[in-house]
Amino acid sequence: MSFDLVLFGGTGDLAWRKLLPALFQAFRHGTLPAGGRIFGVARDSLSHEQYRSLIRARFDEVDLAKRPTAEEFDRFAALLHFIRMDLSQPADYARLAATLRERKADTVVMYMATAPSLFTVACEQLAAAGLNTPETRIVLEKPLGHDVASNRAINETVRRAFSEWQIFRIDHYLGKPSVQNLFALRFGNSLFEPLWRRETVANVQITIAEDIGVERRGAFYDSTGALRDMVQNHALQLLCAVGMEPPINAHADAIRDEKLKVLRSLKPWTAETLSQHVVRGQYAEGTVNGEPVPGYRQEHGVDRDSTTETFVALRTEIANWRWAGVPFYLRTGKRLSGRDAHIVINFRPAPHAIFKSPPGAANRLVINLQPRDGLELHLLAQGADNRRQQAGLSPVQLDLDFDKRFGSERVGAYERLLLDVIHGRLNLFVRSDEQEEAWRWVEPILEHWSGDTGGPRPYTAGTWGPSAASAMIAREGHCWTEEC
Ligand code: BG6
Repeated sequence: MSFDLVLFGGTGDLAWRKLLPALFQAFRHGTLPAGGRIFGVARDSLSHEQYRSLIRARFDEVDLAKRPTAEEFDRFAALLHFIRMDLSQPADYARLAATLRERKADTVVMYMATAPSLFTVACEQLAAAGLNTPETRIVLEKPLGHDVASNRAINETVRRAFSEWQIFRIDHYLGKPSVQNLFALRFGNSLFEPLWRRETVANVQITIAEDIGVERRGAFYDSTGALRDMVQNHALQLLCAVGMEPPINAHADAIRDEKLKVLRSLKPWTAETLSQHVVRGQYAEGTVNGEPVPGYRQEHGVDRDSTTETFVALRTEIANWRWAGVPFYLRTGKRLSGRDAHIVINFRPAPHAIFKSPPGAANRLVINLQPRDGLELHLLAQGADNRRQQAGLSPVQLDLDFDKRFGSERVGAYERLLLDVIHGRLNLFVRSDEQEEAWRWVEPILEHWSGDTGGPRPYTAGTWGPSAASAMIAREGHCWTEEC
């Protein structure tokens, strides 16, 4: 199968940090279909050779499991080409069209790794140049808009040029092996399904903690914030994966229909829940992994009086028969104490205690997403001291480390998703109605904050965020795992 992949934003961070390394890995693993061409598109004036050298130099900064040898990179680089384009110039699209017509590839992928403000003009121009053929697939990176109206406007323009089955809205969390494992755990095994409901589950916690700050994206991040950057997409997609009903099959729309139902069932916000169940924070200077780091307002590109949140914790509920009344706690933040993403399903304690157990002890399933990928099942067992009649139960843990089990060099998120685009598999991409529903649910939070002069609560970099996040969950008699 031949393919042409056009990478708009071909010299940008996303291209050289994630996309080209992912394509290289697929090439190395022998899964990238032979006969492909990759075109980096940018405004720079570069020859094909200069582009290849630029990417070669950048690869040295990328975290690849094994460095490519010169010979290996050269074989990959033979696929790379460069096209100079100004995305506002129709003539440049005509040149692109002429290049792509030199041969008729089975699949043409247009990957928009540019500023989102360019998505609409690029789609209109691609259509005007006749580049919206049935063989074409378009990939849109997040953020797709900053609220419901802007999201809808982008989606409407893109849909005037392409049909929904040609549009691949990427959320790279869906490509992570750990998220695939969550689907496998739930829908490939029968063990947990009877327990996966309000009668047995006390609460669900979803944490995406990062130790990095805003890096070189200060200006972008300052106009975005954690709610738009992480909650509207990644955290809500994880919530859907936990909360959704089993789909009728593994086809894209069957999966996306179920995720959409979860988003539609999220409890609407009220004035009270907005003030009691949402905490926003912003990091102040501190120490992360032993290194002193500046506060958010001192970061390059960030307004000195910024009120942008770098941390969000919130509580919600999925209002349906399976989940009514079960709190779902979500939190994410930058410059927290470590890189740690996990989902915890806390089960209710045994209804009648005949053994002595530690206070608060109960069963818990932890799905670790990163840095390690695996499962932990927390049980209570008779400990070593079982000679005495009155011996109590002790917590024990069953561990399944997928990295150890399957090797840590598994197919990465972008590698998996890029191959899915080339093969036209939409399962792990977000449909426009899902995306719009997610925006609809976060919008009241944004509106509430815009009218709240209090601003985000400061937290010291290297901690788990503002103490208000612990107070929020403690009010219901629960605690975040690291605090229990
Ligand atoms: C991106 C966000 O979508 O996800 C970044 O824009 C964030 O701010 C990143 O750092 C986290 O991804 P990962 O895969 O490193 O957890």
